[in-house]
Amino acid sequence: MGSQEFKIAVLVSGRGTNLQAIMDAIEHAGLPATIALVLSNKKDAYALKRAENHGIEAVFLDPKSFSGKLEYDQAMIDLIKSKSVDLICLAGFMRILSGEFIHAFPEKIINIHPSLLPAFPGLHPQKQALECGVKFSGCTVHFVDEGVDSGPIILQSVVPVYDSDDEEKLSGRILEQEHILYPKAIRLCLLNQLTLSGKKVMQKKH
Ligand code: GRF
Repeated sequence: MGSQEFKIAVLVSGRGTNLQAIMDAIEHAGLPATIALVLSNKKDAYALKRAENHGIEAVFLDPKSFSGKLEYDQAMIDLIKSKSVDLICLAGFMRILSGEFIHAFPEKIINIHPSLLPAFPGLHPQKQALECGVKFSGCTVHFVDEGVDSGPIILQSVVPVYDSDDEEKLSGRILEQEHILYPKAIRLCLLNQLTLSGKKVMQKKH
C-alpha cells in the first residue's frame, strides 16, 4: 500500500453501480483508496455481491436485529470506526442517518444524489425533475448533514432533459455522469483539496 492510499467505507442499499464506479476508479484510474468496508442495510443488495467479487469485506447489518435506530447507528459507528476509514461514501444508502452518526464522523461523510441540489431532494428526484419541466438536471455530490440531501455541495454535473424523456431514460443519462463525478469528488476529499466555509465548499488553489 502506497503512502497516498486512503481507506474508505461505502454504504449501500441496492444495485451498487456507484460502488462499481468507485472500485473501477481504484483499479483502473489511480484513485488512491482501498475500500475497507461495504455496509448494507438490505440483505439482497446486489452491491454486496459486487464487493465480494472484488474481495472487499461486505457486511449486511440487519435493522431488525436492533432495538431502534440509535442502536443500529451505533453498531454502524462501531464497525466503521474499527476500520479507521478516512471517508464514508453513501452510494444509494436508503436510510436517514442520525445526528449521532453524522457527528461521529465530522466532514467525513459524502453522498451522491441524482439531481442538481437544492432542487429535488429526497425520493424520486428524476420523476420530480420531469414533473417540474426543467430543461436541465444532473447529479450532486455533497457532504452529509442532518437534513435530507441538504449538506454543502462539493461537485455537480449538468445533464439535459429531453421532451422524449421518461424517468428511466433521464435516470440512465444522469447515472452515467454519477459514475464519473463520484470518483472525482472522492479524490478531492481524500487528497484534502477542499475547504468548507459554512455551506460553501471551495477547491484549494495550488
Ligand atoms: C443513485 O442514483 C444515487 O445517486 C442515489 O441512489 C442511486 C444508487 O444507485 N443516491 P446505485 O446503487 O449506485 O446503482
